[in-house]
Amino acid sequence: MKTLKSLVLLLMIAAALGLGWLYGGGFNAAADAPHSKPVYWLFATARTQSIKVRASGISVPPLDDPQKIAAGAAEYSEMCEGCHLAPGKKADEDFLGGLYPRPPQLTKPVNANAAELFWIVKHGIKMSAMPAWGLSHDDATLWNIVAFVQKLPTLNAEQYAALTAHAAETHAGEHAADAHGDHSD
Ligand code: HEC
Repeated sequence: MKTLKSLVLLLMIAAALGLGWLYGGGFNAAADAPHSKPVYWLFATARTQSIKVRASGISVPPLDDPQKIAAGAAEYSEMCEGCHLAPGKKADEDFLGGLYPRPPQLTKPVNANAAELFWIVKHGIKMSAMPAWGLSHDDATLWNIVAFVQKLPTLNAEQYAALTAHAAETHAGEHAADAHGDHSD
């Protein structure tokens, strides 16, 4: 009984100290002050495991259709390139240098399978600049983006330019069609 009482007392002191730290502004929310190693590990592990577990039930459609990849290229150049870069394009350091976490370059392979990529693009990542694109795009469009993101590390600057130039034309065409009211997204 005595040990139980001391345990409860200890827990109450710990909770009071924790609240004191929290309300005393102990956590530095500044994006220009990187996490300490243990806090970084905690957040990185929480994020990785969260995505792994939630993506594990997603079944992946075939993604090697060149039309899907081209459609994904159009979306990528419009919505992702500014943060995740493209072959032959320079980073806007004024913007990207101030983001924490900094968006990874998707021109290099990332440690995520197709289901995990889909989950990330659809739902976004909390407490980072990564938006949830599923709020504004259907699953078919998101899979096109995944198809393209998987191809991206194999593309050189010319191939990227060719794919996205064609995509830009398609988009311009779509928008012209929009203006005439005979296209629905
Ligand atoms: C405003 C900037 C921004 C835009 C725009 C953006 N992202 Fe992100 N994205 C981020 C940030 C920041 C992270 C890192 C999040 C983290 O580490 O917790 C991220 C992470 C990711 C990851 C995880 C990479 C990894 O290493 O596991 C993928 C995949 C991704 N984004 C894809 C996309 C795609 C596809 C688009 C466009 C449809 C997009 N992002 C648009 C900021 C952005």
